[in-house]
Amino acid sequence: MVNSAFVLGVTIAGASALQIPFLSTSDQAPVRAGDDPKPLVNSSALQDLISGDRLMIKAKTLYEIAKLGEHEYNHPTRVIGSEGHVGTLGYIYETILQLGGYYHISNQSFPAVAGQVFESRLVLGDAVSKSAAPMGLTPPTNNKQPVHGDLVLVDNEGCQSTDFPDAVAGNIALIKRGTCPFGTKSENAGTKGAVAAVVYNYEKDGVQGTLGQPSKSHVATFGLSGEEAEPVIKKLGKGEKVDAIAYIDSSVDTIHTNNIIAQTTEGDPENCVMLGAHSDSVAEGPGINDDGSGSISLLEVATQLTKFNVSNCVRFAWWAGEEEGLLGSDYYVYSLSKEENQKIRLFMDYDMMASPNFAYQIYNATNAANPAGSEELRDLYINWYKDQGLNYSFIPFDGRSDYDGFIRNGIPGGGIATGAEGIKTDQEEKEFGGRAGDWYDPCYHQLCDDVGNVNVTAWVVNTKLIAHSVATYARSLEGFPKRSLNAHSGPETSSFQLNDYDSQVRYHGSKMFI
Ligand SMILES: *[C@@H]1O[C@H](CO)[C@@H](O)[C@H](O)[C@H]1NC(C)=O
Ligand SMILES: *[C@@H]1O[C@H](CO)[C@@H](O)[C@H](O)[C@H]1NC(C)=O
Ligand SMILES: *[C@@H]1O[C@H](CO)[C@@H](O)[C@H](O)[C@H]1NC(C)=O
Ligand SMILES: *[C@@H]1O[C@H](CO)[C@@H](O)[C@H](O)[C@H]1NC(C)=O
Ligand SMILES: *[C@@H]1O[C@H](CO)[C@@H](O)[C@H](O)[C@H]1NC(C)=O
Ligand SMILES: *[C@@H]1O[C@H](CO)[C@@H](O)[C@H](O)[C@H]1NC(C)=O
Repeated sequence: MVNSAFVLGVTIAGASALQIPFLSTSDQAPVRAGDDPKPLVNSSALQDLISGDRLMIKAKTLYEIAKLGEHEYNHPTRVIGSEGHVGTLGYIYETILQLGGYYHISNQSFPAVAGQVFESRLVLGDAVSKSAAPMGLTPPTNNKQPVHGDLVLVDNEGCQSTDFPDAVAGNIALIKRGTCPFGTKSENAGTKGAVAAVVYNYEKDGVQGTLGQPSKSHVATFGLSGEEAEPVIKKLGKGEKVDAIAYIDSSVDTIHTNNIIAQTTEGDPENCVMLGAHSDSVAEGPGINDDGSGSISLLEVATQLTKFNVSNCVRFAWWAGEEEGLLGSDYYVYSLSKEENQKIRLFMDYDMMASPNFAYQIYNATNAANPAGSEELRDLYINWYKDQGLNYSFIPFDGRSDYDGFIRNGIPGGGIATGAEGIKTDQEEKEFGGRAGDWYDPCYHQLCDDVGNVNVTAWVVNTKLIAHSVATYARSLEGFPKRSLNAHSGPETSSFQLNDYDSQVRYHGSKMFI
């Protein structure tokens, strides 16, 4: 049901002065109950205010904003640096600004490395490779032209420069995946004078990776499937030559983008309940499910929360640069002083709330492996799905979204999702409906992640759960583990280091780096 009663007669100081091309009447903030004392927030009341119609109106608005990216990208996108992303930031900012003094809103600007690959090709012998995928943030080949050379197999996994025979100079290094980040392998290849590098998988599949933080020594680098690499390695093993042509036209630039943070002016500022979604999409598409859905869920919960009073501060974040490797959330967490870090009692991540072939997924966060409180949050999600009579599943809490910087810096975290490029099992088809054998989100990171790529049923369910999480902790943190003042309570380095990985963590964002 549309809350038409709330829309009528809305008056917001200064609203007429705002330039908001995308705000329709029905999109606007609900009317505020004047200066009447507001009831303390409660979960069922906040959940009742969530409607699919209001979510979908915002999804359509976001798609119109993504079209601003067409100038530069020839298709809708909200990737950082695009007009679609700038429009998204404006939309989020103005929507919160319209809620009046309920929130204190701020922009946090940060530098972000943005890479684009315009064209690429890898020819092995006389066949064009099918699985070759340029690494994220790869530099182009020399002069953005094809380069030619022999494939030279590197010893071990190419983590030491001594693994690289002198013959790689002027040729193309072929390196096995494993042990160290792709960026280290590319750097070693570049230092030894290779004109390009190919990292092949130890598994059959391809490698969709990223080089991470750019280095002057990086060379143009591809990932290659184990299946395609096998016959090549066999030939090289017999002493036969295999030549290759590598071509990457790409750019890597540093731009400035920003996080948007909105914090309630009421509520105990020493005890903040924090939640986030990411405002950016990948370059390939408009990102309405990823993560337009989470961004809009947060906007809607922030809007409806204004009808209530809170005991604890609530802080909403819309991160930028998530798709480039969690840049915005990392920047935010690593910039916090120890005192500010301690004020965040927990962080809840809401990335992809409405996948068309969804499962109700809960990050399997535990107090044994993560900061204390992560498990209590996980259990809050479990109990809610149970209370609704809904099934749920656990997914690894492995660094693929913006919670990563928080848990690395001692802040309890968790979240829910509905699935990306994973494949739905037969059992999950019984539990959630949809189609077994297909991706949870068949349009993941593609052009078709548009307004048609959301399941409204799942989106409403999960937005109500977000409302429940906010209402529960904004009302009281009683029984929720206190932040401990141990060694893990604040950042020990000023930024995320790719070398921070351990053997369990293969992701930092959506791309593998190791
Ligand atoms: C919020 O609630 C507290 C007590 O629960 C009350 O003192 C305060 O006036 C309320 N604030 C608003 C804006 O209603
Ligand atoms: C929750 O809030 C609603 C509306 O403000 C109120 O009617 C209801 O009694 C409250 N429930 C609880 C458990 O406080
Ligand atoms: C913050 O960013 C938004 C969106 O990019 C912009 O509209 C707004 O003017 C900025 N506000 C400040 C105070 O810089
Ligand atoms: C959740 O993680 C714990 C360890 O942190 C593990 O023991 C457990 O098997 C996991 N559960 C699921 C369902 O993945
Ligand atoms: C939960 O899963 C079971 C199968 O394990 C299924 O029979 C049931 O209908 C599912 N419940 C809902 C609400 O989809
Ligand atoms: C959303 O999911 C529900 C449950 O699987 C299904 O009944 C419904 O048809 C789906 N809606 C769309 C638009 O796909």
